[in-house]
Amino acid sequence: MLRVLVCVSGGGTNLQAIIDRVADGSIGNTEIVRVISNNPGAYALERAKEAGIEGICVSPKNYENRQAFHKAFLEAVDAAKPDLIVLAGFLVVIPEEMIAKYRGRIINIHPSLIPSFCGTGYYGLKVHEKALERGVKVTGATVHYVDEGTDTGPIILQKAVSVEEGDTPEILQRRVMEQAEWVILPKAIDMIAREKMK
Ligand code: GRF
Repeated sequence: MLRVLVCVSGGGTNLQAIIDRVADGSIGNTEIVRVISNNPGAYALERAKEAGIEGICVSPKNYENRQAFHKAFLEAVDAAKPDLIVLAGFLVVIPEEMIAKYRGRIINIHPSLIPSFCGTGYYGLKVHEKALERGVKVTGATVHYVDEGTDTGPIILQKAVSVEEGDTPEILQRRVMEQAEWVILPKAIDMIAREKMK
């Protein structure tokens, strides 16, 4: 059974997709063992609770400095004994120590076709604003392994989504989430879980 830890910061729609796919069996051999949020108000924590999954908040605001936060965050991760760590709309930079300790076992969902519209400062709605500004006809989402860089690790899956006439950043974001993120993130977890099963 693949022990999956999901890290969240916001609405948790990607977490919900994982929960739903595990429940319907599309993701095999997997248990979500814990959800960690850096944001106490994240609706993603509600979603975890609804699904009977332990959700905890480790907020930088509760620690006197970044180092103390990193220590507490890594302790919360280690305590879950995860085989795979999934960053699902998680807006905290992962400590280098954690990258090294879990190399090859942390994946992230980014709302563009990397290497376009990614890197420092490219997250959430900003990604779609930039795609519309540039006038691309196709965008999408990427699941990749996390390394020391920002959105630079090996790509696992990508899915393209068309940009339509009259798209606003909000409309485009929703389409990318529905048609790409919520499809390829569960698929990537299933691939990894079945690999473990083999
Ligand atoms: C969204 O901008 C999504 O595109 C990106 O993270 C943000 C929040 O996602 N992956 P979620 O609803 O919290 O999963």
